[in-house]
Amino acid sequence: MTQRLPRLAIGAALAAGALLAAGGGAFAVTWKSETVTLPYPGPHFTGHGAALLNASCSTCHSADFVNGQPHLALGTWKVEVLKMKNVFHAPVHAKDVDTLARILFDRHPAPK
Ligand code: HEC
Repeated sequence: MTQRLPRLAIGAALAAGALLAAGGGAFAVTWKSETVTLPYPGPHFTGHGAALLNASCSTCHSADFVNGQPHLALGTWKVEVLKMKNVFHAPVHAKDVDTLARILFDRHPAPK
């Protein structure tokens, strides 16, 4: 018993020194992993014309926002795509305006 006490004291002093030397003192950090499920496909378009829609619209809108729009005439969709391109500078190539309008028209069928 008399021999063991000094060893414990030395051990405790060494451990405290090691913690201080690590820079954190008593603030030891324990990292942990988290798994998060993001809403899908919420932000991204899927299905007909998805690649072009994601490239042209996803920077600013979720797919849900665009998908939730009502049926519009083909010409109205074209005006809408031109508005996004010319007013808000959506990354839409001039050659894709008609294609996008058609895709949007096809994805929003008239109510039956
Ligand atoms: C650079 C950002 C940006 C991109 C990219 C973009 N939009 Fe928009 N969009 C906006 C803004 C800003 C508004 C809000 C306009 C307002 O409040 O008047 C809007 C509004 C809309 C609306 C609601 C009706 C309206 O005119 O306000 C629709 C539908 C729409 N966008 C569809 C699209 C589609 C389809 C694409 C891809 C071809 C697209 N947007 C790409 C910025 C963008």
